[in-house]
Amino acid sequence: MKKKAIITGVTGQDGSYLADLLLKKGFKVYGVVRRTSSDPFYRLKYLKIEKNIDFLSTDLSEHQRITSHINLIKPNFFFNLGAQSFVDYSYKSPMYTDLINNTSVLNILETIKNTSKKTKFYQASTSEMYGGYNSRKMTLNENSIFNPFSPYAIAKLSAYHYTKMYRNSYNIFASNGILFNHESPIRGEQFVTKKIIKGLLEIIYGNKKDPLSLGNLYATRDWGHAKDYVNAMYKIINYKIADDFVVATKKNYSVKDFINLTCKNLGIKILWSGEGLKEVGKDSKGRILININKFFFRPLDVNNLFGDPSKAIRKLKWKRKYDINALIKDMILYEKKKYFK
Ligand code: NAP
Ligand code: GDD
Repeated sequence: MKKKAIITGVTGQDGSYLADLLLKKGFKVYGVVRRTSSDPFYRLKYLKIEKNIDFLSTDLSEHQRITSHINLIKPNFFFNLGAQSFVDYSYKSPMYTDLINNTSVLNILETIKNTSKKTKFYQASTSEMYGGYNSRKMTLNENSIFNPFSPYAIAKLSAYHYTKMYRNSYNIFASNGILFNHESPIRGEQFVTKKIIKGLLEIIYGNKKDPLSLGNLYATRDWGHAKDYVNAMYKIINYKIADDFVVATKKNYSVKDFINLTCKNLGIKILWSGEGLKEVGKDSKGRILININKFFFRPLDVNNLFGDPSKAIRKLKWKRKYDINALIKDMILYEKKKYFK
């Protein structure tokens, strides 16, 4: 009989790539989907897998329905990737963020404990939990201190601790993947990498006349490719014991570095001038490509995230295929197809 996996967040970036991976490995994949007013399946259609997934229609806040799905299916694996995943929005909607990113996780763990103890559980934890005042040069690993800044990070940190607690108290196989930022062609459009690549291509090849407006250009992130990171999730849940693992590239770049690298890949020379809210990036003809808008700053931003994945490399034999340039090229290629069929 086929092994069974439930994925929450199956319509998201990671859920789509993970579903693809599990289908290729012969799993029966069940995906939790909530109702939306527009088509939520565009990523699954892009990967040509939407017909191969059994969809479970429910919102993560419908705790009883999630419970009954687990009871009925009794999956071998439960990957909890569903979340209100936009840090900025969590400041605007903290209680909803806590309900989905924290309380819903507790509900899943309680259900596994009470009715499906053999189900192995993976929790999508995040480098945002480190928050803090880390320097650009300070790498973070499984032993580093957490100092969450946003409602998103606080909810995720609570869920991280619940996952550990259920593992230690009830002997449930429950692991945390502490993943640093990871991007791809099917990254959500609000996130900064996608916004930069899509926005610059709209200016160069499309009809966009206004500059691309951004916030904090000096935050640094450790950006990997989502395809490499779903491989790590699979290795984490298949490891001989439940444990917590950092997944990162051990390279970090600022948002401005990311723009410079993207421009280099596009063959554009970008020249920076001005400071603070007046900073702009212009092309060689003097056209403003990038400007700053205070709307895109957060009440408190995590200034640096830089991960050390040594444990995952050593214990899981995890390897990544993409570096930052390969990631940017992959994202550009996807956007370019909109202009050159
Ligand atoms: P994403 O693209 O935003 O996907 C989030 C998924 O959660 C979507 O399928 C979304 O459904 C679903 N979802 C949101 N609220 C829901 C609700 N109330 N009920 C049911 N489903 C709901 O996020 P991602 O980048 O793939 O990230 C996957 C997970 O990893 C998230 O938990 C995120 O917090 C975590 N994480 C991400 C990163 C990263 O850099 N990508 C790093 C560390 C951790 P819709 O399609 O209907 O919106
Ligand atoms: N989104 C966005 N939009 N971010 C901007 C902008 C902008 O216009 N301008 C500057 N930034 C800065 C943000 O302030 C932040 O410091 C950085 O770019 C990255 O922002 P996001 O791409 O929104 O990602 P994130 O780091 O906040 O969160 C992502 O990574 C986390 C892991 O560290 C999300 O995927 C989270 O779900 C994930 O947990």
